[in-house]
Amino acid sequence: MSLLLKSVLLVSIALATAFTSVGHRSQKTCHLCDVSFAEINLTGTKLPAPSFPPMFIGLGMGTQNYTCQENGTFVNVGALAELFDISCLYGTRGFEDLPSAAFKAWNNSVNTNVFDSLAVISHHVLKFPFTLGQHYYTTNPVTGSGLTPKWDFTSATFAGDSAAFVVGNKTDDVPAPINSAVNIDWVYLTNLTGTLANEIYRVDTQGGQPPTSCIPGSPEIFVKYTTVYWFTGGSF
Ligand SMILES: *[C@@H]1O[C@H](CO)[C@@H](O)[C@H](O)[C@H]1NC(C)=O
Ligand SMILES: *[C@@H]1O[C@H](CO)[C@@H](O)[C@H](O)[C@H]1NC(C)=O
Ligand SMILES: *[C@@H]1O[C@H](CO)[C@@H](O)[C@H](O)[C@H]1NC(C)=O
Ligand SMILES: *[C@@H]1O[C@H](CO)[C@@H](O)[C@H](O)[C@H]1NC(C)=O
Ligand SMILES: *[C@@H]1O[C@H](CO)[C@@H](O)[C@H](O)[C@H]1NC(C)=O
Ligand SMILES: *[C@@H]1O[C@H](CO)[C@@H](O)[C@H](O)[C@H]1NC(C)=O
Repeated sequence: MSLLLKSVLLVSIALATAFTSVGHRSQKTCHLCDVSFAEINLTGTKLPAPSFPPMFIGLGMGTQNYTCQENGTFVNVGALAELFDISCLYGTRGFEDLPSAAFKAWNNSVNTNVFDSLAVISHHVLKFPFTLGQHYYTTNPVTGSGLTPKWDFTSATFAGDSAAFVVGNKTDDVPAPINSAVNIDWVYLTNLTGTLANEIYRVDTQGGQPPTSCIPGSPEIFVKYTTVYWFTGGSF
C-alpha cells in the first residue's frame, strides 16, 4: 500500500471515530446530543417538573386541526407535525430564538404542507436539520375509540424499530405564559403506551390557536404552529 493511501485511510478512520463519538447512541443518530442534564424552563407555569432525564428535544412544526361545533366554537380534533432535532442547540442563543424564528418562517409561507415545513425554514433557521420523527393522532390504543396524540420516530431517527413511539395521556395543561390567545397551551403527558419516553412536554408554543368563533357546518381548519417537544426517560 502506498504511503499516501495509507495516510488517507488513517485520516478517514480517525474522522469516522470522531464522528460516531459525537452521538451517544448509534451512528444512525449521530446528530443527537446528550441532554440528560438539560432543564426544561417551566417558569410561569404549574406544569410538574420531570421525573426522568430529558432524552430528546424536538422542534415541532405543523398544524393544529379544528372543527366547528354546533354552538359556533372550535374544538381541537388532531394535529400533524414534523419534529426536528434541536438537542445540539441547547444552551445556545439559537435555542431560545428558534421557536419564534421558525414560526415566523412557517406561518408566513404560503406552503401549507407539513411535510414541506423543513424546506420552508431550513436555510434561514435550522442550519443542519435532522428529522426526529412525526407527531399525529391515532385511535386510543387503550379504549379503542377516540383519538390520542402520538410521537413516532420509527421512520426517521430509529427507522426500522417499530417500538420507537409513544402515545400520550394528557395529564396537565396550562395556558401559554405569553400571549395565550394566539399560542396554544403548554402540555404535560405521560406514556399511555410506547417506550420512546416516559413523559412528553409541549412548551414554548407559537401560534396554533383557532379563531374565537366559527360558522357551524364550516369545514375543518388547519392552524399553523411551532413548539418545542421534550421527551424524558424512555428506553432509547
Ligand atoms: C425561563 O423563562 C422565564 C420566562 O420566560 C425567563 O424569564 C427566564 O429567563 C428563563 N430562564 C432561563 C434559565 O432561561
Ligand atoms: C360548545 O359546545 C361544546 C360541545 O358541546 C362545549 O364543550 C363547549 O363548552 C361549548 N362552548 C360554549 C362557549 O358554549
Ligand atoms: C390534521 O391536519 C393535517 C394537515 O396539516 C392532516 O393531514 C391530518 O390528517 C389532520 N389530522 C386530523 C386528525 O385531523
Ligand atoms: C399566521 O398567518 C395567518 C395568515 O396566513 C394570519 O392570519 C395569522 O394572524 C398568523 N398568525 C400569527 C400568530 O401571526
Ligand atoms: C391518564 O392520566 C391520568 C392522570 O391525569 C390518570 O388518572 C389516568 O389513570 C391515566 N390513564 C391511563 C389509561 O393510564
Ligand atoms: C413507559 O415507558 C417506560 C420506559 O420506556 C416503560 O418502562 C413503560 O413500560 C412504559 N409504559 C407503558 C404503559 O407502555
